[in-house]
Amino acid sequence: MLTKAVRGTQDVLPEKVHVNQFIEAAMLEIARCFGFKEIRTPVFEHTELFTRSVGDTTDVVQKEMYTFEDKGGRSITLRPEGTAGAVRAFLEHSLYNEALPQKVSYITSCYRYEKPQAGRLREFHQFGVECFGPVGPTADAEVIALASEIFDFIGLKGIRLELNSIGCPSCRPAYHEKLADYFKSKRDDLCKTCQGRLERNPMRILDCKSPVCSAIAQAAPLMMDSLCSECLEHFEGLKQGLDDLGIAYIINAGIVRGLDYYSRTVFEFISDEIGAQGTLCGGGRYDGLVEEMGGPQMPALGFAMGIERILLLLEAQKVALPPATACELFIVTHGENAHNLAAVLANEMRAAGLVVDFDLMGRSVKAQMKHANRISALYTVVIGDDELEKGQAGLRNMQSGQTQVIELDKFVDSFMTLRAKDATESLSQAVEASLFDN
Ligand code: HAM
Repeated sequence: MLTKAVRGTQDVLPEKVHVNQFIEAAMLEIARCFGFKEIRTPVFEHTELFTRSVGDTTDVVQKEMYTFEDKGGRSITLRPEGTAGAVRAFLEHSLYNEALPQKVSYITSCYRYEKPQAGRLREFHQFGVECFGPVGPTADAEVIALASEIFDFIGLKGIRLELNSIGCPSCRPAYHEKLADYFKSKRDDLCKTCQGRLERNPMRILDCKSPVCSAIAQAAPLMMDSLCSECLEHFEGLKQGLDDLGIAYIINAGIVRGLDYYSRTVFEFISDEIGAQGTLCGGGRYDGLVEEMGGPQMPALGFAMGIERILLLLEAQKVALPPATACELFIVTHGENAHNLAAVLANEMRAAGLVVDFDLMGRSVKAQMKHANRISALYTVVIGDDELEKGQAGLRNMQSGQTQVIELDKFVDSFMTLRAKDATESLSQAVEASLFDN
């Protein structure tokens, strides 16, 4: 127990974390180019925030939330997703009084008590964006373009964008009735949860994971056939916007999303290469949510993508990403004076942004060299009494094997110069090689 992470949670170990760092930095940076600024909200909120926004007939609220009473007797829930907290912050800080649209992005941990499997965890991480204010479909196309740009930038391929419209408060009630009529004739075959959903929110049955309910849902009437003219026009506008941007999509009238706040546009980005949990990103409009939570009438939209699922796909597609920053210089020392000098040199070089290490384990010179190899240090230098006396030491490029003598009193400058020279040489060799190839 003590040495095992809780089921459905996982560690990201130091040798892999650069991949997370790379994709997360790319996500935030691309979002920044689209005008989104990062927001950070608490990991837990009042339970009611989620029951009201996500919806009390959803699987997330009915089955999956980590809810507990705190020592003050409040009902608290670990966030199962990022939208509710962003909306709460938007209202609490009256961001609706600021210049619209308000565009926020986030990277958050989320918690859902689901059955763990590949791509489905109980603690997972989302990158998401929320955009408050715009009514027209250009904004829908914009957030979809942002998600699409992120997948392209990190080098993922074969991801399908599926779109649907789930209507608005003016066309949905009539559809609900049609749907309820359809499911009523099959009531006894539905699971217990869906029997309860029948009266309150029949659309939720379309999202049920039970094989019997989803088989019944296959032949259910589609919202797409009951859209009002405004919703249809919005959907047509979105399709045109995506066509203009050259973003391919498939219309899937079966997408309803697992959360209640959506209206009009819903979309998912799906991969077939990571097993059953292939939805990498999901989102849509939620034009009524801000008002429902006590704020002004405020159209809004956004999406969230699952970081762990993206990592699975990166691995499945063997996407080459920039490597972790290696140790640039390992200072091998012999004797106390050299050791003390190494501490000072390392400090100075680290302040200049270099990754520098020296021995903290009391290893022999031979063992220090072995260690430098093991951590793939790019350069090593051996400093002992002899070197201290001469005021010079040999700097070894571990890739080329070449050693150059440098003055200890100009060590940092000389190292920088040599490193830059080596980098230029290897670049021109690479260019020459590629010219020769062609
Ligand atoms: P969601 O579809 O519930 O939407 O989650 C978004 C993404 O989070 C999914 O597409 C998936 O990649 C990832 N995800 C969900 N559950 C798990 C899990 N148990 N393990 C691993 N990854 C998971 C939302 O959360 C909405 N808040 C998205 C949104 C933002 N809509 C508008 N704005």
